Amino acid sequence: MSADPMGVPEVGPKKFEDLPAAEQEVVKSAIQALQHRPGALLPILHAVQSALGWVPPAAVAPIARALNQSRAEVQGVLSFYHDFRSAPPGRQIIKICRAEACQAMGADELVAHAKRRLDVEFGETRADGAVTLEPVYCLGNCACAPAITVDGVLHGRVSRDRFDQLSRGSEAPQSLEQARSERPS
Ligand code: FES
Repeated sequence: MSADPMGVPEVGPKKFEDLPAAEQEVVKSAIQALQHRPGALLPILHAVQSALGWVPPAAVAPIARALNQSRAEVQGVLSFYHDFRSAPPGRQIIKICRAEACQAMGADELVAHAKRRLDVEFGETRADGAVTLEPVYCLGNCACAPAITVDGVLHGRVSRDRFDQLSRGSEAPQSLEQARSERPS
């Protein structure tokens, strides 16, 4: 993903006025509701992401203006916290825990399987927009490792087969081909 000189990713419209009206409304409402709170930047960014699934780069300027901060400051916070997305997510969002307890219970193999099956790397959305794969560091479900979330729903003791069930519909076309060819006839 390329970026302009401010480090702002070039995804979606550059100008706030060019965002769809509903997205403009979300950003304006978040600013209005939260701008007077101390430390308002994070709550505003969270509110926008929770409503839209991402923080459009075109929202950076009005948020910075409302908080009397520079665009670079807002952009710095967005890139520091990996939870914020600067591009729209896929239709399914899968997060796999990479923390210690899950690693000890086979998360590395699960990650390798997930990347192969979905044909996507961590932090990426597949080109057809079907799925986004993200790492996460402890889901508070360590006793049932390895843990993942699918569209925000937590699942524990996830085997490869369970992963395949949970991600059904998001597998890459070549994974389907392979599954068909491996099926006993
Ligand atoms: S280490 Fe994975 S849920 Fe805690």
